[in-house]
Amino acid sequence: MRRKLAAGNWKMNGTAADLAEVEGICKAHKGAGVDILICPPATLLSRLTDAAGDVIATGGQDCHAKDSGAHTGDIAAGMLADAGATYVILGHSERREDHEETDQDVREKAKAALAAGLKVVICVGESLEEREAANTLDIISGQLAGSIPDAVTGETLVVAYEPIWAIGTGKIPTLDQIGEVHDFIRARLEERFGAGVGRSTRILYGGSVKPGNAAEIFAVSNVDGALVGGASLKAADFSPIISAL
Ligand code: G3H
Repeated sequence: MRRKLAAGNWKMNGTAADLAEVEGICKAHKGAGVDILICPPATLLSRLTDAAGDVIATGGQDCHAKDSGAHTGDIAAGMLADAGATYVILGHSERREDHEETDQDVREKAKAALAAGLKVVICVGESLEEREAANTLDIISGQLAGSIPDAVTGETLVVAYEPIWAIGTGKIPTLDQIGEVHDFIRARLEERFGAGVGRSTRILYGGSVKPGNAAEIFAVSNVDGALVGGASLKAADFSPIISAL
């Protein structure tokens, strides 16, 4: 049985004033029986971890593939763990686009994250052009094969399917389209890692998840939760999404 996961990615948003949102979520969902994760900007990670107590796990939004060294502005996986993180998002499409991260880069980062004891949320997803050219499953297949290292388990790996054209746009795929991709990801994971890892790995949907559409998305086969951007910033939006799990 896979535990449901509501993951919030604050992206480049949030200051100390926003920690109050976390307290609201903690009060509302203590003992809820689902996993809740918030990945704030690195500047807030330590304070948010303190505010989150044992109700919310915290994570980074990226890490470097190396343990330390002359890499100005970068953060090592071990530093995230030291600040209280237990997860890290890797290969988000904004990282792939803005920083030209390749599948190989994501795989190396994931190896470093696993070595530091973090769980990895590895993002995959097609562009609108790729969907319109009927290349979605090929793209997803290549990203899964290239980005996920061999040494994962159902406990340490989470896959997030995020169609790039659905991120921050208010558009989402049809429920059938979401189901098709999630079933495909499950099949690829089982094929590569065997039934144990394949069936226990959680697969999240991400892209314009809101309180109004969360329940119908969570009812789709092989959707184990969501990776939420904009709607994770305010407890008033994130809380109903968690409740819909
Ligand atoms: O990481 C989160 C996703 O990019 C989704 O963002 O919920 O603002 O569309 P969004």
